[in-house]
Formats: sequence, C-alpha cells, structure tokens
Amino acid sequence: MKLVRTIPEVRAEVGRARGDGRRIGLVPTMGFLHEGHLSLVDRCRDSADFIVMSIFVNPLQFGPSEDLDEYPRDLERDLAFAEERGVDLVFAPDDRELYPTEPTAVVTPKRLADRLCGLSRPGHFEGVLTVVAKLLGIVQPDVSVFGQKDFQQAVLIRRMAEDLNIPGAIEVGPTVREADGLAMSSRNAYLSAEERERALSLSRGLVAAVRAYREGERDVRQLETQIRERMEAAGGVAVEYVSIVSADDLEPLSRATDDAVAAVAARVGSTRLIDNTYLARPDAGLARLAEPD
Ligand code: PAF
Repeated sequence: MKLVRTIPEVRAEVGRARGDGRRIGLVPTMGFLHEGHLSLVDRCRDSADFIVMSIFVNPLQFGPSEDLDEYPRDLERDLAFAEERGVDLVFAPDDRELYPTEPTAVVTPKRLADRLCGLSRPGHFEGVLTVVAKLLGIVQPDVSVFGQKDFQQAVLIRRMAEDLNIPGAIEVGPTVREADGLAMSSRNAYLSAEERERALSLSRGLVAAVRAYREGERDVRQLETQIRERMEAAGGVAVEYVSIVSADDLEPLSRATDDAVAAVAARVGSTRLIDNTYLARPDAGLARLAEPD
C-alpha cells in the first residue's frame, strides 16, 4: 500500500493502475477508521480491483461551532487498518492541497439539504458535496462507496453525481454496528461510558420501529413516537429529530412503506449522533436485535 499527499501523485498512481487494466474504486473517509469504513473497502472490492481511500478531515463541512479541531485523527493507525484490509493507495492531502485558495466555485445543493441534518448544520452538505466532487474529479473512480449511516449525505451525493453527469457508480454500504447496536462512528470516541449507554437509545428506538413495522404498524406518527419515547426515556439524550421519510427523496411520509427510512439525530452530552434504518430492510446488526425475543 502506498501513501500519497498530493493530487499529481494520486493521478499518476491511478493512471498507472488504469493503464494496467484495473478498475478503480474510491472510499472517501475522514479517517479515524473503524469497521464501518473498512466494510466499505470490502464492498468496493466487489466491483473494483485498485482501491483508493482518501483520508481528509474536510474543514468546509464543519460549522464554526462544530468539532473540526477536536475531530479524532490518527493517521498511523488508519494506515495500518487500511493496509490490512487491502487498500492499494491512501490519499491523505492537507488543507492546502485541496483548498489552495478560497474556492471560487462550490457545490450547493438546491434541494434535500433543507431537512433532517441540514436543519441544524447549515452549509454542511455544501461542504460535503464540494469535497466529494473534488475527490471524484481527482480520482475519477469507476465506483465509489459511501456509508448508509450518513443516509442524507448518500442521497445527496447520488443526486449530485446524476445532476452533474459525474461518471462512475455510487454505491452505499450498510451501517456496521457494535454488538449492542450502537452504530459505528468516529465520533463515538467522544462518549463517556455513561453517555455510550444513553446513546444506545438511538438504535433501540430504531429496533422498536422495525419490530412495529414488521407487526403491521404503518402510521408514521405512531412509529416516530415509539422511537422518540425510547430516546427520551434514556435521559440525557437531546433529540434533534426523529423522522420517517421516503428513501428516494427524503420527503416526510404519513404512511410508512417498504421504502421508508427512519432517521434520528440527537445530542448525547456534547456529542451529536445520527442513525437510521430502512423499516423493511434493517442492516444485519439491527435485524439481529429486532428478532422476536
Ligand atoms: O462521510 C464522511 O466521512 C465525509 O462526509 C466524506 C464523505 C468523506 C466527505 O468529507
């Protein structure tokens, strides 16, 4: 595995691999890797045989009062994990490499960013789409893979790629969870043991909704109430939103369908956490927890 820091180096490495007839895959990350990221590498390898991972904590997607400075970073550890998982090339630029001057052009979502996480994180998705458009332009992968944990992000990236005719497939890999259901996230590192226990209420709420859906409940208000009640009962969990939306266009629903996604966000202490699930098709971790007792 090779580590490169500059755009010309990535282009040279990717160009060589493409010249050898290899299909290029990209897994964009902000580092502090966990099994969730590494599962995206596995997924990427299903349709590519030269895997590029980017590691870049993108300042453009953090608001002024957010955790850019505290965001966990450990490049040495990330490189070890990436190599072990078979990544071919890590691209870890610094801020000046990606943003040598204040950008003249950015990618501003016109729709779908005005809800869910977009409500409390103005400008966040503009930052995400801008950096992802840059990474896709730099690497020009045949396929890139994003995590379902950031569901709204994945929908917006797909739409951006369609709208801007960016070539290459965009795939979404399922959320990976700890055995007790907590969705893996680099931000879990901020949680104290007590906060981590409270944070389990997010996945427990989603499990309750998956079960209720399976048992025939279709009233979105009822389903959302079940989730919210579990989160509020945990104490110390400040619910930001509980919303059941259509997976395709993130529109709020009144009756849940097989394409409905339940999405939640909350603050536990000072840590903002998100989670989500398809009601009809939970990821393996949630499905296991939703099994009848
Ligand atoms: O999901 C993330 O880690 C980031 O938002 C991404 C897609 C790497 C862009 O910075």
